[in-house]
Amino acid sequence: METNGKPDRTPSPHLPFGDQRSAPFYGKDILSVRQFSREDLAYIFGVAHEMREMVARVGTFDLLKGKILANLFYEPSTRTSSSFTAAMERLGGSVIPINEVKYSSVSKGESLPDTVRTLECYADVIVLRHPEVGASAEAANYARKPIINAGDGVGEHPTQALLDLFTILEELGEADGLTVTMLGDLKYGRTVHSLARLLSLYDVKLNYVSPEILRMPPEILAEVGAQDIPQTETRRLEDVLAATDVLYVTRVQKERFEDLADYEKVRGLYVITPETLAQAKERMILMHPLPRVGEISMEVDDDPRAAYFRQMEYGLYIRMALLAMVLGKA
Ligand code: NCD
Repeated sequence: METNGKPDRTPSPHLPFGDQRSAPFYGKDILSVRQFSREDLAYIFGVAHEMREMVARVGTFDLLKGKILANLFYEPSTRTSSSFTAAMERLGGSVIPINEVKYSSVSKGESLPDTVRTLECYADVIVLRHPEVGASAEAANYARKPIINAGDGVGEHPTQALLDLFTILEELGEADGLTVTMLGDLKYGRTVHSLARLLSLYDVKLNYVSPEILRMPPEILAEVGAQDIPQTETRRLEDVLAATDVLYVTRVQKERFEDLADYEKVRGLYVITPETLAQAKERMILMHPLPRVGEISMEVDDDPRAAYFRQMEYGLYIRMALLAMVLGKA
């Protein structure tokens, strides 16, 4: 794992949770899935399991009592923001929510470095969502406290990819050997950028289904290809559906289009219905980072293969794990 240039911190000798000997992520930023090895992932998922058990057993517990999270969101969010809040509060910590930067000094023209340096005076960790690629890395350069990237424009969404992979492992047992099909807006969708990179640590096959103008960016194809992962691009889901173990559907990211006429051309191109799933394997899962805006019909929700609501719940355990880890408690 990279250190992201943060000073080394000596792990606490009495960790109340998980591995008592070390806290390998203590004080670290979570900026990109590129920073993780398979060993790191096994560690994170192990802690997430413990969080799941604790939530089932006691609901809320005081692992992060007295710690404060600043939730700094320059873009809209429902799941990411509220699941980080729930994660912090289930661990006994508290949250400074800055969900609408227009009510903060950002609207007075304050720069990201200054906002981040302000919040770290009050908080122990900062979760940041920002419309610009690289914003989290920039913030991390200025901050002494850990920064967690909750989405940087069309760049990455590493905590989403972690929860996506955790979902795959929990639901299907392992990632090696799977065929994962990503569908929809692969150009602007940051969740698929992070997930494709993360899955390239495993022995997977990746299919990308999208219209021409929303294809997976060439740099990601090159990065994933360099790991010898077979990749197929197509416009037709029928070409790859029958062999698919994980169908990961994304929303067309309307807010990223320069020309809304282009958006109109591609919206509604793919809609997953019960008829679609009739062509899919019996043992497969249908995922979506949500929000959905028509890509998956509600009639599909009761199909046991529809994993998107369970996926959200896995996100709570992953975010609890990450907060405990970067704050030196796991
Ligand atoms: C995603 C995002 O913000 O990138 N949402 C999320 O965090 N679950 C996906 C999206 O907005 O389409």
